Amino acid sequence: MPPSADVVIKDDGRRLTLGAAGRERDFAALWLRERAPDAATLDPQTGQRLIEAALLPLDIAVTAAHIDAAALELHFSDGHHTRFSLDTLFADAPPPASVADGLALWDATLESLPGADFAAALDDDAALLAMLEDLERHGFVKVAGVPVSEDGMQPLIDRIGPLRRTNWGGIADVKSVAEAYDLTMTQRGLEPHTDNPYRDPIPGYIWLHCLSNAADGGDSTLVDGFMAALRLREEAPEHFACLTELPSTFRYTDATTDLESEGPLIELDGDGRLARVRYSNRTERIPAHDPELLTRYYAARQHFYRLITDPALTVHLKLAPGEMLIMDNYRLLHGRTPFQLEGGVRHLRQGYVDRDSTASRRRVLRARHAPDASVTRQGATS
Ligand SMILES: [Fe+2]
Repeated sequence: MPPSADVVIKDDGRRLTLGAAGRERDFAALWLRERAPDAATLDPQTGQRLIEAALLPLDIAVTAAHIDAAALELHFSDGHHTRFSLDTLFADAPPPASVADGLALWDATLESLPGADFAAALDDDAALLAMLEDLERHGFVKVAGVPVSEDGMQPLIDRIGPLRRTNWGGIADVKSVAEAYDLTMTQRGLEPHTDNPYRDPIPGYIWLHCLSNAADGGDSTLVDGFMAALRLREEAPEHFACLTELPSTFRYTDATTDLESEGPLIELDGDGRLARVRYSNRTERIPAHDPELLTRYYAARQHFYRLITDPALTVHLKLAPGEMLIMDNYRLLHGRTPFQLEGGVRHLRQGYVDRDSTASRRRVLRARHAPDASVTRQGATS
């Protein structure tokens, strides 16, 4: 069967070029064979693969292809034939991405903070989806109307995913105490940081709930770590490269705990997009590498530090009782100004939720409420 005008078999059948609705993508024959969406290849109930993909012939070829309505029919050299929905194929082959594709990067000029209402997100799936989309695009969202009770945020966490328990428990106090096991629990100002880079996995989202904030000072500071990373790349590509390539180590110890994890300060995904930042001056313990390597690293880290503490990149806010921040701990750096208890009590509560459950909830709601949206990052590129 000859290929239609919109599909071309190339390289003796090892590659196929598909064009539809102004889009064009190349697919490997072996990829098409292993992803064949038929009952002989995938279990119809679970969608999980039945055949052993690693044992498919490495030289498998597409022998015939044609487009029929919105489907692509394929025959392979191993005798298999299948049909793909064109939309599914294009969804699996996203266009070449920019380094921060689909994200709204921001700095101190951010005019209005992304916001959500607790009761609406709790009761209405569309409102919950809007909150999760804002969280994905901006890296944080400020939620109003949270009950001013110790675990007031818990019902909304339950709508998204399990609370991540750590050695500190579930929802924990963030307030000044005499026997602090972490600098968070003092009145000190905290430099911009990401939380707990010594864990594996690192907590994905920080939920920070304000019960009272009458102390003098104690403003929250937020910096978009992806914006800072892009500034670093513009100003000194060699510094950016160094921080993406050399992993550092982070460690937390106390009488009953010894946590350690490693990773670069700026992490890219397989497509070269920004995937995560790590920064924790308090807990970083880089190994004693070769001095020349460390010289490069320290210069790059100092440059990055100057960016994440630059007032031009920093948003300040002071949470009021009943307000909450949800922050992407893989993107945002957060800190606080010092506070003095003479002015009154400062009592916040904090919990963690992992990335997989949050992303799952967003995708499921998106499929239900915005089925035309693709599974890839959506929206404007900054
Ligand atoms: Fe923190």
